[in-house]
Parts: sequence; structure tokens; C-alpha cells
Amino acid sequence: MTAEPAVRYAEDPSRIVSAYGVAMPRIIYGAAWKKERTAGLVELALRMGFRGIDTACQPKHYDEAGVGEGLGRALAAGLTRAEIYLQTKFTPLRGQDPENIPYDAEASVGEQVRQSFEASLRNLRTDRLDALVLHSPYPEDEDTLAAWRAMERLHDEGGLRQLGISNCYERDRLERLWKNARVKPAVLQNRFYAKTGYDRDIRAFCRDNGVVYQSFWTLTANPEVLAQPDLVALAEKHERTPAQLFFRFLTQQDILCLTGTSAKDHMLEDLAIFDFRLSSEECATLDALLVSRPGEG
Ligand SMILES: NC(=O)c1ccc[n+]([C@@H]2O[C@H](COP(=O)([O-])OP(=O)(O)OC[C@H]3O[C@@H](n4cnc5c(N)ncnc54)[C@H](OP(=O)(O)O)[C@@H]3O)[C@@H](O)[C@H]2O)c1
Repeated sequence: MTAEPAVRYAEDPSRIVSAYGVAMPRIIYGAAWKKERTAGLVELALRMGFRGIDTACQPKHYDEAGVGEGLGRALAAGLTRAEIYLQTKFTPLRGQDPENIPYDAEASVGEQVRQSFEASLRNLRTDRLDALVLHSPYPEDEDTLAAWRAMERLHDEGGLRQLGISNCYERDRLERLWKNARVKPAVLQNRFYAKTGYDRDIRAFCRDNGVVYQSFWTLTANPEVLAQPDLVALAEKHERTPAQLFFRFLTQQDILCLTGTSAKDHMLEDLAIFDFRLSSEECATLDALLVSRPGEG
């Protein structure tokens, strides 16, 4: 199929349908850094109501087999695989722990992608992924494209429904990938923070070209924003926490938010953001708080 810019944002407040026809919850549970608690927390997140999971074939930060175990328990308890949006990543060699690489480090980039994908299917106990995300571009476009071509082949073979890219903070680089890709990126997953000016220019490109923007570090990188009197006042007005208000605001900007909370109460709070709506004036007030600070880490 061709990826016309045909993302459907408006119909359902809790879901976005990508240009590839894949329904994605607007808030997704992230499985990073949970180590031996991964299976239990993924199972809990699904029980609390999350229907999207983000993970990676990167043992350094994710226990992907633990995600598969948690998912398996939720499926055994009655959920169906079709109800869940399952997204994982291929992590290039430099992002892997040299002592624990989930593919042959000597193989070609294309072969590494295939081996990583096969490991993900085994870990996640599934025969199909909803999205495979390239964890970061390579320094050279040539290598990024080699990985992308391998991802396109997996897409052609029917093992995954859409492709994505992560940690791509230069609009030019994203545009080059988009132009050269036969199967266009359906999602971009980036750190959402002041240093990159909250990716305003990149988000505009995404919006115009049918790429859904996903945010991480949404709360952790923005303590000053969450403490701003305007945001706190709006949270009080809507009887929500500042975190809930910020997530709701971002989902209204068509940003799909990741949350990796380990707390049941926060899981419930993060999910309970779709039964209220901010006015356009309130959104403008909040948007003005997203001030670019390029020097900051
Ligand atoms: N592509 C990449 O390179 C990349 C990089 C980093 C992360 N990610 C993905 O993004 C996911 C999320 O990671 P993240 O870096 O955004 O951080 P995170 O792991 O979600 O951490 C967010 C922090 O916010 C807190 N929190 C969550 N909900 C809250 C609420 N309602 N009220 C108050 N505090 C709340 C959590 O504390 P509690 O646990 O106490 O709730 C935690 O300290 C990861 O699991 C991973 O899937 C991807």
C-alpha cells in the first residue's frame, strides 16, 4: 500500500488510526527498565486497561521475554491479541550491551534486523507485530536505509503491520528517510523536551506526512512545565493531577504518549484522561509553556 497522509485522529479520543490502518491507543505502556518485574507490571498494565505495549529487543534496557510472559498471562485471562497494539524495536549494535547482543554482531545490518525480529516474535510469543521501530538512525544514511530495507521486506512478508523510527531529532534526516522509504515510517518515537524545542518542526513534518508522533520522557524531562502555575491551575480546575493534565493536553495535540509507570495508581490515572477535554484557549495556554531551551540536556 502507499502511505498517503491519512492518519485518522479525530474519531476516537483514546485512539489514533495510522496511515497503515493500525489503531494505536493514545497512551501506551512502556516496558523499559523493569527487569524482573517486567512480566508482572505488563500483566498489571493490561489488567488496568492499557491496550498498547512498547518494548525493544535490547536486553540492556528491556526484558522482552518478560513482556511476552506478561502478555501471555493477560491473554490466558481473556484478552485477545487483536485488542493489543504491540510495538517493539530493532536496536543497532552500538545501542546494545556488547555482552548480550540479541543477534549476530558480525552479520550484515539487514540480517541483524531479521534475526532481531525473529527473536522478538519468540520473546513476545506472537506471529505478528503491530510495529517494528528502528531504535535510532545510524550515523550514515546508507546504514539506516539498509536496516529500513530489511524492515520493508519483513513488512512485505506480512509479519508486521507498520514501521517506525525513533530518536530522530533532525528534520532533514527524517525527510530523507521518508523520501527514500518504500514503506513509509508510520510512527516517530522521540524524547519530548525543551532541548529540541519539543520537536515542533519535526512534528509539523509528521502531521503533514502521515507519521504519528510518540513521546517519551514526557514527565521526567518536564518537571518545570508540570510545576508552572498555569498548568497547576488548569489541573485544579479539571480536578486532575498535573501529570494527567499534561498527558491530556499532548494527546489533544495528536501526540501519542508513552508511560512506563510502575505504580498501579499512576496506571489508572494515566488511563483516565479521555473523559475530559481542554478548550482551544486552554491548549494555547499550555502550548506557550513549551519553551525551547536548546542548551539544556
Ligand atoms: N525510544 C527510546 O529510545 C526510548 C527511551 C526511553 C523510553 N522509551 C519508552 O518510553 C517508555 C516510558 O519511558 P519514560 O522515559 O517516558 O519514563 P517512564 O519510565 O514512564 O517514567 C515516568 C516517570 O513518571 C512517573 N509517573 C508516571 N505516571 C505518573 C503520574 N500519573 N503521576 C506522577 N508520576 C507519574 C513514574 O513514576 P512511577 O513509576 O512511580 O509512577 C516515573 O518516575 C519506556 O518504558 C520505553 O518504552 C523509549
